Amino acid sequence: MDTFGTTGFTIILILSGVVFIVALAAFIYWTWVITEGTYLGSWAVILGYDIMADKYDGIKEFTLDDESILVLEPILGEIGDLAEPRLLDIATGTGRVPYFMAQDPRFAHFTGRVTALEPSQKMLTLAQQKMADIDFHVNWVRQTAVPLPFPDNSFDMITCLEALEFFPDQTAALREMHRVLKPNGTLMITRRTGWEAKMFFGRHLTREEFELRILSVGFSDAMSFLWETIYDLTIAHKM
Ligand SMILES: C[S@@+](CC[C@H](N)C(=O)[O-])C[C@H]1O[C@@H](n2cnc3c(N)ncnc32)[C@H](O)[C@@H]1O
Repeated sequence: MDTFGTTGFTIILILSGVVFIVALAAFIYWTWVITEGTYLGSWAVILGYDIMADKYDGIKEFTLDDESILVLEPILGEIGDLAEPRLLDIATGTGRVPYFMAQDPRFAHFTGRVTALEPSQKMLTLAQQKMADIDFHVNWVRQTAVPLPFPDNSFDMITCLEALEFFPDQTAALREMHRVLKPNGTLMITRRTGWEAKMFFGRHLTREEFELRILSVGFSDAMSFLWETIYDLTIAHKM
C-alpha cells in the first residue's frame, strides 16, 4: 500500500473509532440518564434510584412554598372536606407528598391516612428517616405500581408524581390505580413534557393521548394543566 493509502486507511479507522465511541456514549446517556433505565426494565430504574437516593432531595430542591401550590392545594381541593380520607402516593420517592403534607399547617388536623408506596429501598428508607420524628402517620409499602397490594375501592385519592414515565406498562398501572380508587375518588398524576419526554420512544403520549388513555381504563373525566416546566398535571375521577 502506498503512503497515501496507509494514511487514508488510518484516518478512516480513527474516524470510525470516534464515531463508535460517540454513538456508544450517546446510547449510554440516553439509556441511563435521559430515560433512567426505563428500556432495560424496572430493575434498572429502581437500581438507579437506589444509587442516586442520597442526592435526590438536593437535586430537586423542593420547597414548602412551591409544594403548597403545586401539590398540596390540589389535594386539599379534592379531599379537604372528607372525613378521614385515605390517600395513596404511588412512587413516593423520598416521601415528597406525605412530608410536605406534614409540614403544611393546613394539614395540622388531618385525620386521614396516607399510604406511601415506593420500590427503591434506599428512597423509602430516606423517606422514613425524614419523617421519623414528625407526628404524621404514614403507612410505608415497598412495592412497584403493578400490581397494587390493596383491595378494590380502597382510596379516596391517588397521587403519582414524576414517575409514570418509568413504569414498564403505563396502561396497566393506570388500570391498577382505577381499581383501588373508591367511586368518586381522584387521581392526580403527572405526565412528562418537553424534549426529554419525546426521547421515551414508543412511550411518549401527547396531552390529548394521555387523557384518552386515562379515560380508556375507566376514569370518567381527565383534565390537564401545565404544572412544572417539564410536566403536566392531570386530575381524573372515578365514577
Ligand atoms: C422522579 S422519582 C419521583 C418521586 C416522587 N414522586 C417525587 O415527586 O419526588 C420517580 C420514582 O419512581 C419510582 N419508581 C420507578 N419505577 C417504579 C415502578 N415500577 N413502580 C413504582 N415506582 C417506581 C422510583 O423508585 C422513584 O422513586
